[in-house]
Formats: sequence, structure tokens, C-alpha cells
Amino acid sequence: MWNDTVVTQRLGLVAPIVQGPFGGGLSAVDLVVAVNEGGGLGSFGAHNLDGAGIRRVAAEIRARTSRAFALNLWIPLGDSDDPQLSDEAWRAECELLRPYFEELRVPLPARPARFGPRFDEQMEAVLEIKPPVFSFVFGVPTPSVLDRCRSAGIVTVGTATTPAEAKLLADAGVDNVVATGFEAGGHRVSFLGEPEDCLTGTLALVPQVVDAVRVPVIAAGGIADGRGIAAALRLGASAVQIGTAFLACEESNAPTLHREKLFSADARRTTLTRAFTGRLARSIHNGFIDAMHARRPVYPPYPVHGWFMAHLRGPALDAGRTDLGSFWSGQGAPLLRYRRARELMEFLVADTARVLAPG
Ligand SMILES: Cc1cc2nc3c(=O)[nH]c(=O)nc-3n(C[C@H](O)[C@H](O)[C@H](O)COP(=O)(O)O)c2cc1C
Repeated sequence: MWNDTVVTQRLGLVAPIVQGPFGGGLSAVDLVVAVNEGGGLGSFGAHNLDGAGIRRVAAEIRARTSRAFALNLWIPLGDSDDPQLSDEAWRAECELLRPYFEELRVPLPARPARFGPRFDEQMEAVLEIKPPVFSFVFGVPTPSVLDRCRSAGIVTVGTATTPAEAKLLADAGVDNVVATGFEAGGHRVSFLGEPEDCLTGTLALVPQVVDAVRVPVIAAGGIADGRGIAAALRLGASAVQIGTAFLACEESNAPTLHREKLFSADARRTTLTRAFTGRLARSIHNGFIDAMHARRPVYPPYPVHGWFMAHLRGPALDAGRTDLGSFWSGQGAPLLRYRRARELMEFLVADTARVLAPG
């Protein structure tokens, strides 16, 4: 049976379908629960939460489903956990974005003590919670974290954009590797090279990663229906991870305007850009991307530019200014048809069975 793989067996899933986690506050407990009840693995992206926030989310998920779920974090890359930001870089960033803040009549934010939660605190919360699955991007956790996951029975899932990254993850003892092609929505999560140099598509990347490692491979990027799932399984993947199609569902925490955009003609054009966070990520194209690309700014160290942009996002959405914010989307958006996660899950399972039926 197509839906009986090492991943479904290990995690007790009905179908080898992982709902991709979303950072930036776009994950939702409702979505995790709907996907779990539909037989897949729901994931919650906790990148933007502190330890207390992560504990709260995990308790909510556990109160509503007894099935396996994943918590997801971003491994610090370079000095991203506590960036060294010069006064000059701070001022340059203020000047870069001042016109947009003025246009929306929002004051420029004051410089904070920190630009985001501490990774160590987030990681300790995850280890204490002991979720069935811990997934992560942008690197490899320390050997001690991986040991503690193993002792606690937490299944680990790392993410690779190249076969070399996949091999590093597997050699470190990570249990599963997501091979994510450049079609995927959101950030390009490369950690060994510049993301601009790691732009292999899913169709070429998955079999290369399958050949490079002995652990189960989860294919991600551009998958939105049974044809994509069947293709990924045929390429040797043991499961798929789908982001954009779940982000578009009512249960996600994406604002209505974002979800509507994903079903609109605008989603036919997505761009990989550093314009929104300073890191390369795929979004629906808009005027802000053009403006930033024309100015070619030197972005401050991550996550400073994204922190500024987060202050603009709410007011921009309130003003209906879709030309100003990020509308993360993968290249598969034009394939989207479903707006409820449970219906999407039912469709994905039935459609894959149809595509893979003999004859
Ligand atoms: C808005 C958005 C946010 C994302 N945030 C994360 C994240 O925090 N952690 C992660 O592992 N993957 C993240 N991803 C990647 C997805 O989990 C998934 O792997 C990807 O969307 C699959 O490609 P697709 O969008 O073509 O389906 C994000 C994707 C999107 C669209």
C-alpha cells in the first residue's frame, strides 16, 4: 500500500503527509488538530515563541489530540540568536524603512534589548515537553540535544536543501531528513552555503538526497495534490511535507487577505527574495520586492530586517496594502482547491490512491 511507509509506521499516521510548520505566527493549533485527525502529521512552527509560549501551545495541542504532532524551531545560524548590530547599521535600516512607516503613519520602533526569543530557552521547552516529533531548519542541533531527544523518544526531522546538508544531518544522527526543493514557500533554509547557490528543484533534489542518506526522506516543495505525492514517493521519499496548501486553509493563522491571495491570479508569480527578512524566502511578487531589489540595500544581520518588517505588517494589512508585506507562497499555489484542512487531507489521500491505482 502506498500509504504504508517507514514514516507512517514510526509515527502511527494513516497517510505519509506532513503539514509543514509555519514560523512568523502563521501556525495554528486548529490546523495541527485537523491534519492529525485527518491521518497526517500536524506541525507547529514555534520559531517566534518563547519557552512559556511553546509550553502553552503544546498543552493546547495535547488537550485536543492524542495523535503524534511536531514542534518546529530554527537553529541559530551565525550570530542570529543575538546579532551584533552597529549603531550605523541600525540607523541605515531605520532610513531604509522610514518612508514606509511614515506612509502608514506608524512610528519607527525603538531599539529593543533582543530581536527575538532565546534559542536555548526554546530548546529547553521542547525537551521538557517531549513532543512526538521535533523538526528544525537552518542547521543541526548539538550532539547533546540530539542525545536528549533520542533518550526522550522524540523523533527528529532535519531539513536539507542539498545532498551535502542531508548527509551532515544523517551523520549527526537525525532520524529523518526533509529534502526541500526551491519551489517551496517561505525561507530557503540552507545552512552550509549561500541559499542562492542551493536552488535545486524538488524533482532533482529528492532522488539525490535519497541516494546520499540511509534515513527516511520527506519531500517538500511544490507538492499540492496526489500527482505530486505520488511522484515524490516514486522518487524514493517516505513521506511528503506540504506547506502552501495548508497555509491556505481556514484553520491556519494566515490573515484572510493572505489566504485569498494564495487563491488569486497573483500567486502565479512568486519570487525568492531577501526583501522581507534579509534571508532568502519565497513570496508572492509585489511592489515592495521591486523597490528593495532596485535599491539593493545591505540588510542588517538576521533577524533585524524581519523584526522591522513585522512592525509594518499589521498596519499594512489593516490598510489593505498588499503591496507592502510578505505573502509567503510556494510555486504550487495555482494548484490549490481546498479551504478546509480536513477536506484537503481527504482529497490528498484519495487523489494519491487514484494516481497510484494499478492501470
Ligand atoms: C509561510 C511559511 C512559513 C514557513 N515556516 C517554516 C518554519 O518555521 N519551519 C519549517 O521547518 N518550515 C517552514 N516552512 C516550510 C514549510 O513547512 C514546507 O516545508 C514548505 O512550505 C513546503 O513547500 P510548499 O510550500 O511548496 O508546499 C514555511 C513555509 C511557509 C509557506
